[in-house]
Amino acid sequence: MNIRADVGLTFDDVLLVPNHSSIRSRSHVDPSSWLVPGIRLAIPILSANMDTVTEASMAIAMAQSGGMGIIHRFMPIERQADAVRKVKRAESFVVENPLTVPSDTSIDDARRIMAEAGIGGLIVIGAQGQLVGILTARDLLLAPKGSYSVTSVMTPRERMVVAQADEPLDAARLALHAHRIEKLPLVDDQDNVVGLITAQDIIKLQEHPQATKDNKGRLRVGVAVGVRSPDLERAAVCVEAGADVLLIDIAHGHADHVVEMVRTLKREFPEYPVVAGNVATAQGVHDLAEAGADAVKVGVGAGSICTTRIVTGYGVPQLTAIADCARVGQEIGVPIIADGGISTSGDLTKAMAAGASTVMLGSLLAGTEESPGAAVVRNGRRYKVVRGMASLTANVARKEIEKIGEVDPDEWEAIVPEGVEALVPYRGTVTDILYQLIGGLRSGMSYAGAGTIAELWENAEFIRITPAGQAESQAHDVRLI
Ligand code: XMP
Repeated sequence: MNIRADVGLTFDDVLLVPNHSSIRSRSHVDPSSWLVPGIRLAIPILSANMDTVTEASMAIAMAQSGGMGIIHRFMPIERQADAVRKVKRAESFVVENPLTVPSDTSIDDARRIMAEAGIGGLIVIGAQGQLVGILTARDLLLAPKGSYSVTSVMTPRERMVVAQADEPLDAARLALHAHRIEKLPLVDDQDNVVGLITAQDIIKLQEHPQATKDNKGRLRVGVAVGVRSPDLERAAVCVEAGADVLLIDIAHGHADHVVEMVRTLKREFPEYPVVAGNVATAQGVHDLAEAGADAVKVGVGAGSICTTRIVTGYGVPQLTAIADCARVGQEIGVPIIADGGISTSGDLTKAMAAGASTVMLGSLLAGTEESPGAAVVRNGRRYKVVRGMASLTANVARKEIEKIGEVDPDEWEAIVPEGVEALVPYRGTVTDILYQLIGGLRSGMSYAGAGTIAELWENAEFIRITPAGQAESQAHDVRLI
């Protein structure tokens, strides 16, 4: 037994002391940071791998804003891979394998295929796979219903504008504009279609200049996996679907089975970054990094919906955990992800100043339009549900997925939850909330005189505060309206 003499601190226990600054405007600071070596995020924020936070819509919005979403693992493998595919299809320079139909397809079938796939055009191919025409929603607008072939309304090959497979984006943009067309098929030497560039995709690129993208221009996305043998298959199927990052999601990450899983994933998928967690000590970071982890997630019991500290007695107050872990992380070049307990942009700034490279948000994002599930109305106000992944209902849902059936009520009693279910106010879109959070971080960086996150780490000085100091930090002695 050992009782540590130092005090564990969390966000509300401290403030950052303003530093001399040469920064004239918060727009002059750069909050970008490394998620893992090789993947830099324009904004240092991840959405949590929780079933009330991150599925495809959240991951798309996060990556478009310059952060990244981690799709949770509490669903069948194929559904998780589908979510990955949705994110990878949401934006790209080039649509690989665009949908094609044979030239004897009827107009009715073409209409149905386009509606089902939610797309505005189809490429028509001949028996040898060669390009014979293109069909757009406009061609079908007033076309008669029935079994007429699409060839009667499509634009035929000889009137089409096409480009080679390696067409640069700027040239594609010019061609689309010059010919006032919306779709530019890319063909190989045999006139087979190998890709498609659309005006819509180019517009999206302009709308999200900070988006987190892979080298094909697709949004990046991470997936959570566990440590059991089916999780290796989960990782393989998600990598095949296009996942960019594998994240081992275990409540107590400083454990042999997590270390082994890091080694296995690094061996099986050597080109893919592996994030491991959660830990709350420097030794935890050291051991996971030694096994090959490319980043380590820090936070035990800090989350808004966590009851681990109450149920087990374990945890380290989050600011101390981040600082302890970041010290070793920075020494060995492994980024730290501060996970849990961030409820304001001030907390975000403190977490980054304490040494985190990125943060993970659960409840703050659970109230947005893009989180899974619909909003509910209570007493005339809109809310969304958030639940701990170790809560009672999440445990039951997980067992139902594993068993593919209902869980016996007796089994409910055997569960010892370490999380709760809760309501959070509906907060509008992810873009709105990230704008406020990053605005606060930028402003905080200017108080530190820090143009970059590395300078924030260097310049940050924390001061402990008392309950009176905490009260002073809030709006006080006024009646809020
Ligand atoms: P916030 O505070 O952002 O925290 O909502 C999100 C993080 O909380 C963790 N998490 C849990 N921790 N029991 C726990 O002890 C749970 O049931 C639980 N569910 C989520 C997780 O690290 C998440 O990212």
